[in-house]
Amino acid sequence: MAFWNRRKSIESAGASDETKRLKPTLSWPHLVAMGVGAIVGTGIYTLTGIGAGLAGPAVILSFLLCGVICACAAFCYAEMATMIPAAGSAYTYTYTVLGELLAWIVGWSLILEYTVAASAVAVGWSAHVAEFVQAAGWPVPAPLLHGVMSGGVIDLPAVIISALITLLLIAGTRESATVNLILVLIKLAALVLFVVLAGQAFDPARFHPFAPFGFSAHVDADGVKRGVLAAAALIFFAFYGFDAVSTAAEETKKPSRDLTIGIIGSMVLCTAIYMAVAGAAIGASYFADFSKTGAPLVYILSGLGHGFAAQLVAGAAIVALPTVILVLMYGQSRIFFVMARDGLLPQSLSTVHKRRGTPVLMTVVTGVVVAVIAATLKLDQIALLANAGTLCAFIAVALCMLVLRTRDPGRARPFRTPWPWIVGPLCIVGCLYLFVNGLPQFTQEWFLFWNAIGLVVYLAYGVWRSGLARRQAEPIAKPRDAS
Ligand code: ALA
Repeated sequence: MAFWNRRKSIESAGASDETKRLKPTLSWPHLVAMGVGAIVGTGIYTLTGIGAGLAGPAVILSFLLCGVICACAAFCYAEMATMIPAAGSAYTYTYTVLGELLAWIVGWSLILEYTVAASAVAVGWSAHVAEFVQAAGWPVPAPLLHGVMSGGVIDLPAVIISALITLLLIAGTRESATVNLILVLIKLAALVLFVVLAGQAFDPARFHPFAPFGFSAHVDADGVKRGVLAAAALIFFAFYGFDAVSTAAEETKKPSRDLTIGIIGSMVLCTAIYMAVAGAAIGASYFADFSKTGAPLVYILSGLGHGFAAQLVAGAAIVALPTVILVLMYGQSRIFFVMARDGLLPQSLSTVHKRRGTPVLMTVVTGVVVAVIAATLKLDQIALLANAGTLCAFIAVALCMLVLRTRDPGRARPFRTPWPWIVGPLCIVGCLYLFVNGLPQFTQEWFLFWNAIGLVVYLAYGVWRSGLARRQAEPIAKPRDAS
């Protein structure tokens, strides 16, 4: 088999420790909490403002569009996760269904979803710390609260939180279900508080004109891509994280019932809350005003005279957002781990520390990259790049689901995507549409540049070191030092 389409068998996808059966202890309420915990973060707390600046009041349609596309992707993830309950997520599914080369591209793109998205959440967190610091009157110089690309010198809070999470991960910390549930409730309570208070100042007149920048994305005179679609390509960031739910597939009591309710439940809940928050924000304050701030919900509440509630919302974001960074950085270390175990990345990167049981080197490398990106770049630039990688992964997972339905229709599927030939293509077309039409050109170029680097790394290393190639005794001429 040629190197670009050599595939792992589904049975061998997990290998070694990863295939140990986990105890089925989770039910749908756990999954809804897990999904909401991983989904609700910087997207709603910060990007709502920037998104409103791109679409105007019609940003609520951007939320709806993303909700539908992500629900389709979530179903595809659930089907694949229950069939191939092994670590590695979209990378592993692609390796078993579409072959090594595409799996590499998906794995390389997942670095954007996890590492770059972690940076984005760190920057969103920092914006809330800045609000807090300002309100408390602490003498922290403003240039230390914003990265170079946002007019500051360094985003110090973002660097500090990245470092702290890295240390927690090295220590082997995992979120417990109870802590997660408490944080989910805090995050949701803050959003409900916002909707209730901002709702009291609701003025429908602020919804006119509803879509001042139109539906389709277009570049304005100021060089910014605007429109409902452009906002959707950014707001998309608010929705992912649900892959965490599908990765728990093996631990659910009744996969088909629990995953359906868990995934659809968290998706519908988040979409509804997001639309309510966006609607309340726009009804309470002129969108052009709050679109300029990194903590729009706090800004709006302060403007309405609810200073204490504003502090509560900022406090909730400060307490709860770091768990999203934790989940993302943890996910990254697992992806690297599996790619290294497959021989596509150096094994040394994924060496697990004997005493702590965590991949220390990989975690430190990830932490440093997250901190450097967060310290310098602008939030929307980072979030858009993370979205590009995630859109690529979603397309791959939907494609895997459809290909496997055709290639291996008789295989047992603990969870079956409803109407697969509508849901799968809808996911692919929706993600492609957002990628091609919604994302700004510089993001698309950066994504291609990133994958070009990835391809060079693969051709220089992975293609020769691939464990699968060795097992299949692939007749590729190896360089002398690669044996
Ligand atoms: N959906 C997550 C967030 O908004 C990544 O922070």
